[in-house]
Amino acid sequence: MYSFLLTWAGLAAGVSAACTRAALQDATATYLKAQAAGQPSLLAGTLASNASYAENDAPVSIAASVLAQALTIDFSRSIYDTTECASFTEITSATSPHPYIIHTRLLFSGAAPLVITAIESVVTDAGDWAFNATAGLSWTLQETWDAIPAAQRDTRAVIQAAADAYLDQWGNPDLPVPLGTPCARLEGGSYYSGAKDQAANTCAMGAFPVPLAVGHRRYVVDEELGAVDVFNGFPWLESTRAANFSTPSSNFVRVVQGKIRYIHEATVCQTPNCGR
Ligand SMILES: *[C@@H]1O[C@H](CO)[C@@H](O)[C@H](O)[C@H]1NC(C)=O
Ligand SMILES: *[C@@H]1O[C@H](CO)[C@@H](O)[C@H](O)[C@H]1NC(C)=O
Ligand SMILES: *[C@@H]1O[C@H](CO)[C@@H](O)[C@H](O)[C@H]1NC(C)=O
Repeated sequence: MYSFLLTWAGLAAGVSAACTRAALQDATATYLKAQAAGQPSLLAGTLASNASYAENDAPVSIAASVLAQALTIDFSRSIYDTTECASFTEITSATSPHPYIIHTRLLFSGAAPLVITAIESVVTDAGDWAFNATAGLSWTLQETWDAIPAAQRDTRAVIQAAADAYLDQWGNPDLPVPLGTPCARLEGGSYYSGAKDQAANTCAMGAFPVPLAVGHRRYVVDEELGAVDVFNGFPWLESTRAANFSTPSSNFVRVVQGKIRYIHEATVCQTPNCGR
C-alpha cells in the first residue's frame, strides 16, 4: 500500500523515477555539447520528436536557432530540478566571434527514457541589457556556487520565495527581500557587489519610477546547489515601448541559508540597452 501511494504521488506530480539528478546532468551535458558544436542533431535520442523550441519567448525552428551556431563555451553553470524534471544552464560565450550569454531551461518528460520536451532560452548578445560577455565571464568565474552542505540546505519553497521576493519588490519597494551581506548582482557584464564595502548590500534595487508587475514566471529550483532560475517578463525597461510591455528576462539566483548571495540577470532589449 505504501509503495502504491509513493508511486501514485510520483505519477501525480508528473515525475517518474527516471528523473534522477544523474539523468538530468547527462542530458544537460549533451545539450552543451550540441551548443558547442552548433549541431542540434547531437540531441537526437535526447530530444522528443515533437519537442518545442523557443528563444526570447518566441518559437524558433531549431535549424535557425542559436543552437545551430557553434559557440566557444567559456563557462557554464547548470542546476537540476528533480521535482519538476527540468534543468537550467547559463552559458557565457565571450571568445566566440559572436559573443553571447544564454540562459536555457530544458524541460523533460519525466518518463523513462528521459527526453527533452521543451527548450526555452533567453539569448542575449550585443545591445541587450548591460551586455558584455567578457566582463560577465570574469565576474562569474570569481563566484562560488558549490553544493550546499546537506544539513544547511533550504527547502525549494524557501529558495523560490527568496527569488520571488526580489522580483515582487520591483512592484512595491516596501516589501522585504532576504538579501545576504554581501550580495552581488551581475547584469550582463555589469557587476554590483559589496566587495568594496562588505556592509553595503548592493543587491538592493531601490524603487523603480513606476511599480513593476513581473509576470510570466517559470522556475527551475535546485536545493543541492541552493539555486533557482526564474524566467520572467520585465516590464517598463524597454523605453521604446509602452510601460506594460514586458521584455524576456531571466534571473538566476543563489540562495544560502535563506539569503540571496548572487543574482545573474539576462534581459533582452529591442533597442540598444533598451534605450536607456
Ligand atoms: C508529444 O508527444 C507525446 C507522446 O506522443 C505526447 O504525449 C505529447 O502530448 C506531445 N506533446 C506536444 C507538445 O504535442
Ligand atoms: C567589456 O568589458 C571588458 C572587461 O571589463 C572591457 O575591457 C571592455 O571595454 C568592455 N566592452 C565594452 C564594449 O564595453
Ligand atoms: C498596455 O497599455 C496600453 C495603453 O495603456 C493598452 O492599450 C494595452 O491594452 C495594455 N496592454 C496590456 C498587455 O496590458
